[in-house]
Order: sequence, then structure tokens, then C-alpha cells
Amino acid sequence: MDTLIQFAYVVSAGLFIFGLKMLGSPATARRGNMVSSIGMLIAVVVALLDQGIVDYTYIVGGIIAGGIVGGSAARLVKMTSMPEMVALFNGFGGMASLLVGWAALSPMASTFTMITIVLSILIGGLTFTGSLIAYGKLSEVIDGKPVMFAGQQIVNSLIVLGVIGSAFMFVQNPTDPTYLYIVVGLALLFGIMAVIPIGGADMPVVISLLNSYSGLAACAAGFAINNNILIVAGSLVGASGIILTQIMCKAMNRSLSNVLFSGFGSAGGGGEKIEGEVKPISVEDAYYVLEAATTVAVIPGYGMAVAQAQHVVKELQLELESNGCEVVYGIHPVAGRMPGHMNVLLAEADVPYDLLLEMDEINPRMETVDVAIVIGANDVVNPAAREVESSPIYGMPVINVDMARTVFVLKRSMASGFAGIDNPLFFKDNTRMLFGDAKESIGGLVKEFG
Ligand code: TAP
Repeated sequence: MDTLIQFAYVVSAGLFIFGLKMLGSPATARRGNMVSSIGMLIAVVVALLDQGIVDYTYIVGGIIAGGIVGGSAARLVKMTSMPEMVALFNGFGGMASLLVGWAALSPMASTFTMITIVLSILIGGLTFTGSLIAYGKLSEVIDGKPVMFAGQQIVNSLIVLGVIGSAFMFVQNPTDPTYLYIVVGLALLFGIMAVIPIGGADMPVVISLLNSYSGLAACAAGFAINNNILIVAGSLVGASGIILTQIMCKAMNRSLSNVLFSGFGSAGGGGEKIEGEVKPISVEDAYYVLEAATTVAVIPGYGMAVAQAQHVVKELQLELESNGCEVVYGIHPVAGRMPGHMNVLLAEADVPYDLLLEMDEINPRMETVDVAIVIGANDVVNPAAREVESSPIYGMPVINVDMARTVFVLKRSMASGFAGIDNPLFFKDNTRMLFGDAKESIGGLVKEFG
């Protein structure tokens, strides 16, 4: 029986790994999700048989209640609120590990098991409160500005020392729960203290990092209850979360420590006074330019998600193509508010994957593009990242739309993007601003073609 159970765990671990691999391409991502889910189903069923459970009443009740809440939340959540939902998932994942660790406490436990229990409680606890703060900042339930105060680093260091000290004392005296309560309290406090100094704009990175922590907590819980598949799944989440965090930091040309400790977003502004004038364009005039274009590059950003313009964008692509124009899309790795945000939206509108070019592919051909249409993107096309040394985003790789012959920027106003900084693109000679909701503006263009 035990061999069979371990074999089933190996099968589900294999399915997790294949599923993860398939998530690497939009063409196989859906199937990857399904493959991993089957792996998880096997893991859950086998774990329920494996752990010598005597009464399933509460477990079945928990599965039904959790399934209803999770299923309806996932159906109801708006695409733009997906990062908030992931934050909550991470937080509850952390809380689950904390509770599993706590439940595994036993005076008979070896020192190694005690250490893993304390780790699952500690990492799970800080992941829980950190994720709740990240959720609050992203959903604007609490102010997104970094909260900084004098002596903050000292306070945080004291909390860390307190946690390590009480964890050590608890492992030495497992029968006295006082130190355990202190560990739990300080871990919960540390999650809050670690996330409040980070600005709302950096929350997607923080969420990815907390995702990694929730994996580590699960891994520690796996050691605590001696469950191999929990160790494997936790390690996979821990490793993939940290890789994603690194990818995001690299795409913003910032280090992880800069994201975590610099209070980015508290200063605002930056940069120099921008020269030039803003030139608005009407839908009709934009249509005449597009009608004559032979190559068009569409650069989507967060505003496309807000306007839910992906379907009309696809319609515009078809109109342009039937007019003999080549259309490609330029996708910045941190466009929108979550990794792959633009890919998901465009896939929803059935835009072929081979038309989606990554930043490194589109930039070298930008000079040959007749019209670059920027749809609700701002920071990811900001030339200040290349040109203005004093800009907070200086050095961040961006899509060089300003190098196209003509640039249309579709947005509602002159407001700044998530990073809160001005954009000299709007003032360039070859830029025309098509003001209005992106869905309406593109709908208007499609009508002109029709
Ligand atoms: P942003 O710079 O945030 O700009 C979005 C623009 O969309 C805004 O300037 C807004 O201007 C416009 N907009 C909003 N609603 C609109 C509507 N209905 N119709 C037309 N335009 C609309 O977006 P981005 O260029 O995609 O950059 C993403 C930002 O998020 C970057 O700063 C990036 O570093 C940050 N970030 C992203 C991630 C991931 S993983 N994606 C992770 C961490 C940080 P108006 O208000 O004038 O319309």
C-alpha cells in the first residue's frame, strides 16, 4: 500500500512539473493548468487515504465550503483584479501551512521536526499578513503609498531577532507554548511591517515573492507532517515564485532589495521639464493615416484591460489586414498589472500567438513601422527610461514606440501611469493623442473602415 501511495505521489509530482512546463507557452497553458490540476487531485485523494484519517466529516465539509467560495470567487473576479485574488490565495496558503505546522506539534517530535514546524508557522504567518496588506494596497482598501518612519529598519531587525530568539527557545522547550505564541505573533507582525514600506506599484512583485514564501511554508509543513508531495509542491511554488520575482525585477531594471526597501513611489515626479506640445487627433484623421499604413504595431497596456478593448482591437487588426497592412503586437513583460496580462487578454480575443512579439523582437524593427498604436500603455513605452537620467524609471527596458514613423497614443487624459511619472512620448513630434476610452476610440476606427 505504501509503495502504491508513494508511486501516486511521484505521478502527481510529474504532472505538476509537466503542467508548469506547459504554462511556458500560451498555446499549451490551458492544458498545462489542467494537467497540474489532475496532479493536485491525485495528490489530495491519496493524501486523504494516506494519513490514517478516522473521521472525514469536517474534511468533506471543508472541501465543499472551500470549493464553493474558491470556485465562485474565481468565476466572479474581474481580470484586472486577478493579482488581488492571487494575493489572497497566497495569504490563505500561508495560513494553511501555519495551521498544519501547529497541528503537527507533539512533545514526541524530533528537533528536526520541531524546526520544520516552527518554520511553517513562521513563514506561513508572515505570508498571511503580508498578503493581506498586499491585497489591501492593490485593491486600494488601504493607501498604496509606502509607509516609512524613522528607525523602521531597527524595529524590523528587532522583530526578526525576537522571532529567531523565541523560535530557538520554543524548540528547546516544546512543552511550554508561551514562546510559540510569541513566534506566531511576531511572524504576523513581521508580515505587516515588511510590506507597508512598499508602494502599491510594486505589489505585483511582492505578491510573486509572497507566493514563493507560501511555497516554502508548505514545503516546511510537508517536512513537519512527513508528506512528500507537499514538500515537492511547496518547493515548486517556492522556486517558480522567486524566478518570476526576478523576471519582473529585471524587466523594471530594479533589484529585489530596491523593490523591498527603497520606498519606490513615495517621491513621485522626477525627471526634467518636458519640451514640445501635445497634438490631439480625431478618430477620422487617425483612420486616414491607418488606411495608408503598410505596417502597424499595437502596444497594449493596462488601459486596454480597463477598457476591455481586446475584442475591438482584434477587429481593427482584421480590418487593417484586409486593407493589406501587416499587424503585429509588441508585448512588454510588465505591461498591465500581472505577468502575462496582455497575452491572456489577447488570447481571449483569439489573436494568433505568432503575432505577439516580445520587447526584444519588436524594438529592432520599430523604425520600419508606419504606425505604432499605444493602447492604454504608459510606463512601458516611456522614452524617459532611455533619455532622462534623473527619471525614477531610467534604465528600465521599454518598447521604443517613439522610433516608429507615427505614434497614436490612446488614453483618456494626460494622467500618468502606475509609476506616477510624466511621459515625454506624448510631446514628441511624431505622436498624436487619441483621447477617450480605448474601446470607444478603436470601435470608432473599426466603424470608419467598415
Ligand atoms: P500604466 O503605465 O499603468 O498606464 C496605463 C494607462 O492606461 C494610464 O496612463 C491610463 O491613462 C490609461 N487608461 C486607463 N484606463 C483607460 C481606458 N479605459 N481607456 C484608455 N486608456 C486607459 O500601464 P502600463 O504601460 O501597462 O505599465 C504597467 C505598470 O505596472 C508599469 O509601471 C509596471 O512597472 C507596473 N507593474 C507591472 C507588473 C506586471 S507583472 N505587469 C508588475 C509590477 C509593476 P488615462 O487615465 O489618461 O486614461
